[in-house]
Amino acid sequence: MVSSDRLAPGEQGRIRVTVRTDRKKGVIARTVQVRTNDPLNPLVILNLRANVTDPFHGKKLDPKEMFRTPCRKCHVDRGRGRFGADLFRADCIMCHMRGKNAAPLGALRKLPRERLQAAVEKGVPGTVMPGFSWKAGGPLTDSQVRSLITYIKGR
Ligand code: HEC
Ligand code: HEC
Repeated sequence: MVSSDRLAPGEQGRIRVTVRTDRKKGVIARTVQVRTNDPLNPLVILNLRANVTDPFHGKKLDPKEMFRTPCRKCHVDRGRGRFGADLFRADCIMCHMRGKNAAPLGALRKLPRERLQAAVEKGVPGTVMPGFSWKAGGPLTDSQVRSLITYIKGR
């Protein structure tokens, strides 16, 4: 967005640029090309640099914190009232996918039910996997936990 598409020689204008930073981390660089009919500078390149920081992650956190405000917006609220595959996509896949720290669905599927249930309900000590069951102070009901195990086991 430009403040004016006509500038007299020496006159100043403003250009408003929006950069999407979701899923970005650290320093990002973008360029903006400004084409004008200025015979000396028909093309001006503006270089933008920004350092994208994450206000929520980075420091050592108690994983249980993710069930509280403001963290729950991403870690809990999307899974509310959901079951099975929908619930897994809302609450779990963010960590349990290829390229992230935790085992993806295909690897979880190979584990015995008892182990799945214990991990989902109580968490895995020493990792960022919190206990999701209401009994462990988490957001999920027993039937939500059961629906996840059924989904993970694929039947
Ligand atoms: C804007 C959405 C969002 C908010 C808000 C949010 N998280 Fe997360 N969190 C994610 C996503 C997505 C991941 C998956 C890991 C990744 O993509 O880097 C994640 C991963 C994590 C992890 C695992 C990191 C690891 O080492 O694998 C922890 C622990 C965590 N979040 C805790 C929190 C806590 C505590 C808060 C609040 C202070 C919080 N999150 C707020 C989206 C969010
Ligand atoms: C903040 C990231 C994060 C979230 C969210 C998360 N997990 Fe985990 N989970 C982990 C980590 C890290 C481990 C330990 C490493 C591993 O076993 O892959 C783990 C371990 C597990 C295990 C045990 C695996 C084993 O080998 O014993 C199961 C089962 C599991 N998670 C299921 C889930 C389910 C279901 C959800 C959603 C309700 C979920 N996880 C949400 C990070 C997460």
